[in-house]
Amino acid sequence: MKRIAIFASGEGSNAEAIVKYFSSHKEMEVVVLLSNRSMAKVHQRMELLGVPSITFDKQQWNEATEIVDFLRAKKIDLIVLAGFLSIIQPPIIDTYYGKIVNIHPSLLPKYGGAGMWGMNVHNAVIANKEKKSGITIHYVNEKVDGGAIIAQYECDVFPNETPDSLASKVHQLEYKYYPMEIEKLLM
Ligand code: GAR
Repeated sequence: MKRIAIFASGEGSNAEAIVKYFSSHKEMEVVVLLSNRSMAKVHQRMELLGVPSITFDKQQWNEATEIVDFLRAKKIDLIVLAGFLSIIQPPIIDTYYGKIVNIHPSLLPKYGGAGMWGMNVHNAVIANKEKKSGITIHYVNEKVDGGAIIAQYECDVFPNETPDSLASKVHQLEYKYYPMEIEKLLM
């Protein structure tokens, strides 16, 4: 079995879609979820799905050595970021280079980088009257949203689109394509 660890900070709807996708998979499984926020809703979702979820504090994320040890002990093959809003520090990137993926709610390189996450992205896309948005699945390196792109999927942004309606469209793309792209990487 290939072993997946998800990192998430918030709502966790992507984490839930990924766990459900792999729940009866014969070759891949989500073994643990790591977070930087103990109160995040993702923990409730994981509890209902029977996936252990663990919070490491700010210092542990900043130093990252304890987290690397934890991931090694769990024999993790792929780290999947799903709405994880903390910087991944060099010890994790160096140990798992090419084995960390992220999902971003825009067509990178547009609307990426510092401050561009969640609704901030959709607000900016609407404010700039973009005609297209979408999702980017990419490898994680030391640059925020700067790793090699694995896949992108587009959606239309209609003239009457709101940040909320766009967010929900983008989420649908995420649920549909992120688990599939993760599966391809582990095949
Ligand atoms: C998702 O739309 C994800 O693409 C985005 O946060 C949302 C998390 O939703 N990630 C980023 O903006 C990362 N830069 P979720 O917690 O319900 O999965």
